[in-house]
Amino acid sequence: MRPTTIAIDGPAASGKSTLGAALAEHLGYLYFDTGVMYRAVTWAALERGLDIAAEAGITRLAESIQIDVEPASKDDGRQYDVICDGVDVTWAIRTPHVEAAVSPVSAYPGVRSAMAAQQRRIGLRGQMVMVGRDIGTVVLPEAPLKIYLDASVEERARRRHLENVTRGNHSQPYEEILAAMKRRDAIDSSRVTAPLKPAPDAVIIDSTQLDVQQVIDTVSRLINTQCSMKNKP
Ligand code: DC
Repeated sequence: MRPTTIAIDGPAASGKSTLGAALAEHLGYLYFDTGVMYRAVTWAALERGLDIAAEAGITRLAESIQIDVEPASKDDGRQYDVICDGVDVTWAIRTPHVEAAVSPVSAYPGVRSAMAAQQRRIGLRGQMVMVGRDIGTVVLPEAPLKIYLDASVEERARRRHLENVTRGNHSQPYEEILAAMKRRDAIDSSRVTAPLKPAPDAVIIDSTQLDVQQVIDTVSRLINTQCSMKNKP
């Protein structure tokens, strides 16, 4: 039997989205990148001119906005559309502005519980590859396969820089991306509620020296091993 849900956690730009999307496609599962929800809340807060440091206002916003993830409506490199209160924010949630504010927003316990409740409801439908920071630890701790995908911060910054340049965005130098990533790592890992860490039963994969295909092959082998173990009498 295949795992009904696959949880993939890890730091920014460790390759979670690429792996998650490829596995979902291969298995015919839905792919859900939960980071877009925290990004959409952050985008909406900045749009409304809210003070990011004002926890109560941000939490109220998180509890009230409608975030939807839908099949890609444009052929511009997107994997899906992210719609926030009816507005297509797919690329708007990827700007350095949002990147700079998303970690503090996602550290607020009220924001996390609003998002995690929605994510859990979606995840429990099964046939799902869910990607984030706390999927294996908080959102779906019962997921039968949990992957924690890591890579050195320098390699992750290099990947993010390359991704930006490929999209025609040359505005942020590598050094700046590296510094911002270190800041985000520190906040994501040290927050009190649902910090970034592997679940006790997660399989940890370091992708620093691996290309995309090698990571996909590693996880595919894990799935096959799990399947054959479960099918043994
Ligand atoms: O994966 P990402 O870079 O799109 O995530 C954006 C931010 O949201 C990141 O700072 C960590 C946070 N996040 C989280 O706290 N929990 C999740 N399940 C997903 C993302």
